[in-house]
Amino acid sequence: MTEHIYEHKHKLTKADRSAIKGHEPFALWFTGLSGSGKSTLANEVEYTLNKKYRVHTYLLDGDNVRKGLNKDLGFTAEDREENIRRISEVVKLFVDAGLVAITAFISPYRKDRNFARSLLEEGEFIEIFVKAPLEVCEERDPKGLYKKARAGEIKHFTGIDDPYEEPENPELVIETDKLSIEESVDKIIGHLVEKGYIKEA
Ligand code: ADX
Repeated sequence: MTEHIYEHKHKLTKADRSAIKGHEPFALWFTGLSGSGKSTLANEVEYTLNKKYRVHTYLLDGDNVRKGLNKDLGFTAEDREENIRRISEVVKLFVDAGLVAITAFISPYRKDRNFARSLLEEGEFIEIFVKAPLEVCEERDPKGLYKKARAGEIKHFTGIDDPYEEPENPELVIETDKLSIEESVDKIIGHLVEKGYIKEA
């Protein structure tokens, strides 16, 4: 479908857009089970990046994006793939705009996360595995969805009757059953400072 489509080269480049922001653009991709803590951490990290480090961010969150851009999608493997494909393209645009894109989606399939990575340049994609045992996520059950899945009211629920493929080489693993929210945020920000993505505040 892209046969007669010609890409425009813009006069203003990604480097120009990025240069007036005072930091490099990149993507922070949070992945993990429902209830693992992705949204909580993504929120706190975004807040810290903006307030303390004056970084230009935008947070894309599963539940919000599924109410707008992706409201036509469900939870079959095909729909989850399309969900992540669209998010990945949006992330690419945000990074091209010179921003730090932060995402919080279960993104259960390795190939879909690798697709997101493949759209960006080397070093721009930081995959954060938000790791917590299924039992812990189920115990937290912040939205009561595990209970419904166990009762058979929700089908294809990740971790119950749908797979989650753990990342093999994520840039970071955050074990939310072992670290507090504050410790988790410190670990993520510490990584960004250490690797030179952001400057010490
Ligand atoms: S993803 O698998 O396509 O990446 P996404 O992160 O957008 O999922 O949406 C997950 C959120 O949708 C969950 O946090 C939960 O609130 C809700 N949800 C509803 N049905 C399901 C389901 N079958 N599996 C997982 N999450 C579901």
